[in-house]
Order: sequence, then structure tokens, then C-alpha cells
Amino acid sequence: MAFQNILVQREDSTGIIQINRPDKLNALNKATVGELIQAVDELGSDVSIRAIIFTGAGEKSFIAGADIEELSALKSPVEAMEWVGALHSLLNRIDKLEKPTIMAINGFALGGGCELAMSGDIRIAAETARFGQPEINLGLIPGGQGTQRLPRLVGRGMAKLLIFGGDAIPAAEALRLGLVEQVVPAAEVMPAARALAQKLASKSPVIMALAKKAINEGMETDLQRGCELEAVLFGVAASTEDRTEGTRAFLEKRKPIFKGR
Ligand code: COA
Repeated sequence: MAFQNILVQREDSTGIIQINRPDKLNALNKATVGELIQAVDELGSDVSIRAIIFTGAGEKSFIAGADIEELSALKSPVEAMEWVGALHSLLNRIDKLEKPTIMAINGFALGGGCELAMSGDIRIAAETARFGQPEINLGLIPGGQGTQRLPRLVGRGMAKLLIFGGDAIPAAEALRLGLVEQVVPAAEVMPAARALAQKLASKSPVIMALAKKAINEGMETDLQRGCELEAVLFGVAASTEDRTEGTRAFLEKRKPIFKGR
């Protein structure tokens, strides 16, 4: 499928989705959100793809937020809710993908860019990247789940400081806050993301999906229920051929060959 605003590549078992509007710093307009939904659905249902990388075109920006031209043209609360509804639909899809997602943050991750980054599993940022939720400066609040995902990652007080203040922070600060997992020189962002994707792709995809589900769903409930969910999913993991293979390979001192069953 040909896209206008994004590029989709398959490299072995890694899918790469690149937001490709560099002249607008990869701002998310409605058309781009629609294309991203299609790309996520396509790569999500492709069994040959074991990990997905998201990144931005150009050297300056991952995603500089929602497209402010479109935001300025919104005519009613209903229209605005429809606009963010599409964005939510995208972010929920990314969150629920059974494959691991890596955000290769090559520059500005502002507003919807920071929000899209937070919907993924692991964030690798360029030293030059900047993060923030500047919506308050536009007379808005974050509408792409930022008021919910940011406090879950960095804590309630820090999320309020960032959302109320509207300032951007450098990658090193984002790392300190737990908003990103790794910071590397700009030229190393994609190599680091590719290397991690390859490593994750070598694991059993069925076990990877169970681990992701246990963490994501467990974090949204209390500790006891989360632990119960883990025990059930551990049972499912133990029933797979990949568990038989993984444990046997260890005992036979060889590398496991996982089949995703
Ligand atoms: N929506 C629409 N267009 C955007 C955009 C956005 N979120 N962010 C940047 N652009 C456009 C600019 O309008 C400009 O377009 P033009 O060349 O047609 O005038 C182009 O991208 C380059 O941006 P510019 O502002 O000239 O780059 P800069 O290096 O001076 O500043 C930023 C970079 C990221 C600091 C600045 O673009 C910015 O503050 N963007 C908005 C961030 C934001 O508020 N995001 C949240 C939206 S809810």
C-alpha cells in the first residue's frame, strides 16, 4: 500500500514506520494518523514481523506534535473530539500490538510526538531530542493520552510540572525522569533501534506477547490481580512448544530454535 505521509519498510523481521513530513517537522495531521493506523494494522498482522520501529524523517524531528493548522481550524467540541479520537485509536493500537515496539526518537518529540512515543514499549532517544507537552501554550490540554500516560511514566507531580509549564526538556532529563530508556548520539539512534529489534525478534513471539500483556495489563490493575494475571499467563507460557524447546536447549547446552507455538 502506498502512503503519502509515512514510509514503511520491512528489514528481515523488523518493520520500520517513518513519519515523513520533514518540512512540517513530521507534525501529525489527520491523513498521517489514518496512514499510521493502516501501517500498524498491516505490520501488526504480518507474522513475519517480530518488532516494529517508529521514527521520524529528517534530522530535526521525531514528531513536533499534532498539526497546529488543523487544530486551529477545529470548529466545535465534537470535531475536536473526533480529531483526538482518531489519534487515540492509533495510540491504543500501538499499545496493544503483540509485538514489541521501539521508538527511535531522532529529534523533537512534542505534544502528539511525545504521546506517540509513550504509547510504545521502549524509547531510544538522540542526545539532541527534546520532549514536552506544550499544548498549554496553544490554549489546549494534551489530547493524545498525555495526561494519562505521562504521570504513569514520570509520576503525577512531574507530569503536572511538564503539562502546566509547557516547556520542552532535553533527552538527558527525559532519561533521568524515566520518560526514555536510552539516550545515544544522534547517528546511533537507528543502529541502536535496529540492534534491539533484531535481539527482540530472536525471542519467541508468543512468549514476547505474553510478557508484554502481563506488564501492560498488570500495570492497569492492583498488585494482587496483576500477580494473578502473571500466574495465569505463566501457565499459558509453560504450555507452549517454545517453553519445551527453550528449557531443553538450555539443558542440552545449545541455542533454542523458537517456533512461536
Ligand atoms: N504543526 C504544524 N506545523 C508545524 C508544527 C506543528 N506541530 N511544528 C512545526 N511546524 C512547521 C512550522 O510551522 C514550519 O512550517 P513553515 O516552514 O511552513 O513555516 C516548519 O514546521 C518548521 O518549523 P519551525 O517552527 O520553523 O522550526 P524551528 O526549528 O524554528 O522550531 C519547534 C521547532 C519544534 C520548536 C517549533 O516548530 C514548534 O514549537 N512547533 C510546535 C510544537 C507544538 O506546540 N506541538 C504541540 C502541538 S499540539
